[in-house]
Amino acid sequence: MNDNFLNNYELSGNLLPIHTYPAPILKKIAVPVTDFNAELREIIKDMFFTMYNAPGIGLAAPQVGHSLRLFVLDIWFEREKVTLADGTSEYRFFDFSPMVFINPIFKNKSGEIIHEEGCLSVPGIYEDVKRAQLVTVEYQDMFGVHHTLEADELLSVCLQHENDHLDGIVFIERLSFLKKQLIEKKFLKKQKKK
Ligand code: NI
Repeated sequence: MNDNFLNNYELSGNLLPIHTYPAPILKKIAVPVTDFNAELREIIKDMFFTMYNAPGIGLAAPQVGHSLRLFVLDIWFEREKVTLADGTSEYRFFDFSPMVFINPIFKNKSGEIIHEEGCLSVPGIYEDVKRAQLVTVEYQDMFGVHHTLEADELLSVCLQHENDHLDGIVFIERLSFLKKQLIEKKFLKKQKKK
């Protein structure tokens, strides 16, 4: 885990609007981050806040309107609904393990895994996607320091899903042509009804 980042994460920030498929920004190739400044850290903080509250296990910058090669994820956190004394309820969050990946590059991909995926930009759609089982990714943290991480299972799936967003690819585009057509139709019809 990135022990140099957000060790004592506290849930705070602004909720960012999440763009949904087929918003044009989700199709764009995002540009590398070059300035590791306070503005970037503010975006990251708001991305975590937005991801946890959604709730989701990953969020890429293009999904919240920033065409940058950056994503955040946390596949470990817990969320629980609690009822307060006055009868209202709220969500409590536990066990944060926030990770941020900037300018990620996959160095190795091997094996095969099929895992059900969902996406905050395609709400309500969950489909099995075939990905590499094991990946090695090089990336920078929020201070620009370079790291290498080897990941498998859910973390590997999540890294590949989020990295796809940086290349303008939404997970339903990883499905077979017919399946994609079907899902897309279903999703767009549902969106129209809202
Ligand atoms: Ni997604």
